[in-house]
Amino acid sequence: MSPKPPPYACTECGAPAARWTGQCPTCGAWNTIEEAFASSASSAPVSLQPLEDVAEIVTVATGITELDRVLGGGVTTGSVTLVIGEPGIGKSTLCLQIAARLRDAIDEGEILIVSAEESVTQVGARARRLGAERHGVSLLATSHLPDVERALEQRNPSVAVIDSVSTLHTPSQSGSPGSVTQVRTAAESLSQFARRSGTMLILVGHVTKDGDLAGPRSLEHLVDTVLHIEGDRHHQRRVLTTTKHRYGRAGEVGILTMEEHGLVSVADPSAALLAERGQPLPGSVASILAEGAHPLAVEIQALVTPAAGSPARVTQGIPATRLRQLTAVLDAHGELGLGRSDVFVACSGAVKAAEPAVDMAVMTAILSAHTGVALDPAVVCLGEVGLTGAFRPVAAMDRRLREAERIGLTRMVVPPGVTVPDGCTRVEIATVAALLRVLRDLAPDSPPAATVTREGDRAEGW
Ligand code: TYD
Ligand code: MG
Repeated sequence: MSPKPPPYACTECGAPAARWTGQCPTCGAWNTIEEAFASSASSAPVSLQPLEDVAEIVTVATGITELDRVLGGGVTTGSVTLVIGEPGIGKSTLCLQIAARLRDAIDEGEILIVSAEESVTQVGARARRLGAERHGVSLLATSHLPDVERALEQRNPSVAVIDSVSTLHTPSQSGSPGSVTQVRTAAESLSQFARRSGTMLILVGHVTKDGDLAGPRSLEHLVDTVLHIEGDRHHQRRVLTTTKHRYGRAGEVGILTMEEHGLVSVADPSAALLAERGQPLPGSVASILAEGAHPLAVEIQALVTPAAGSPARVTQGIPATRLRQLTAVLDAHGELGLGRSDVFVACSGAVKAAEPAVDMAVMTAILSAHTGVALDPAVVCLGEVGLTGAFRPVAAMDRRLREAERIGLTRMVVPPGVTVPDGCTRVEIATVAALLRVLRDLAPDSPPAATVTREGDRAEGW
């Protein structure tokens, strides 16, 4: 016998609770603890599935290359993908494009698009704009969960897009449409159907301003993949990432642009992200991310200005605590007086650079902005810094450096003990103090400080 499940749960965060309390001990929300589980004991026979009869899992490529890369190949049968992003970012567009591409790729079965927010006419108009009208794609405009469940059971589609799960509601549950209980009920029921039937289920979810999915992350554990679409609504670039991916590696980054006729994959994301840099200006440094299987070049930008009051540390795409730590280390080892300055740091192109691998690039960008020294556009900085001010190599150094070389970043500023590709320049930096001394040598017109022409050659370090 398995132990009985806890009888209460928080409707805000989903955490189970042994007894009723006024405040959830997990998320701190008030009056959200409710009775959760009715007794499920039953004498009905249990239906078991012989292992050899279990259908094979198939992954279907959508042909949207950046999406397929992020998903590690494509969309998997019986999987549940939650697409989340801010209003207007392109979730409906992406899902319609996925539906059309999967229609082209799958021979059998229907594709069902449930529109809980827009009318059939509006979805049809968007499909025409995208060139996504296909035979075998059906629309259902409803926000009533029982209608959606009925449609799924009757049609048993190969692919179902629910746009959005945040707006579905069912009268059998308490709470208004969009409430945590309603959204969870819908996601749970639809996910169970997908797993039973092998349908590829794509759920669209809204995120609130602070980045949380309505019902704080309560859907993440119900789904196989959480696909984020991010970007600035006023610019074309869109970034796809996964924070959870049961069928592949999370952390892969896909770069697309929102064009007149929908989302288009960027052919060479590293080159595209760096192409926007223009002429060399102080405060700009390139680095390479490698959280996913494919390394990605990014530009780190910094601005240092005199502080009017208490010094501000403002970041975009880089963890705020990391920036505070890096400025403190710079101050402790470089005596720059950043305590009297506002420091702004951003990773270009709506990409998140949460890896410590960019520490050296962030520091170099701040130094470059602070001193007004623009760096050679061929410079790439890679390395993690500790509290002692010493730089050390990071994981996947080889892959990162090969990607840097491929796109012309051939002056490689790296910690000791790193070998750079043939023909590239290695500038070996052991400490923050050394970085300060060498900064002016990284300007465009200064000669390379040391060159490595053969693997194994050691460059002169500082
Ligand atoms: P949409 O997919 O409706 O966003 P979401 O579902 O996340 O709210 O897309 C919104 C924006 O995208 C809208 O401002 C118009 C723009 N857009 C294009 O630029 N090109 C297109 O082909 C389409 C369909 C939309
Ligand atoms: Mg939409």
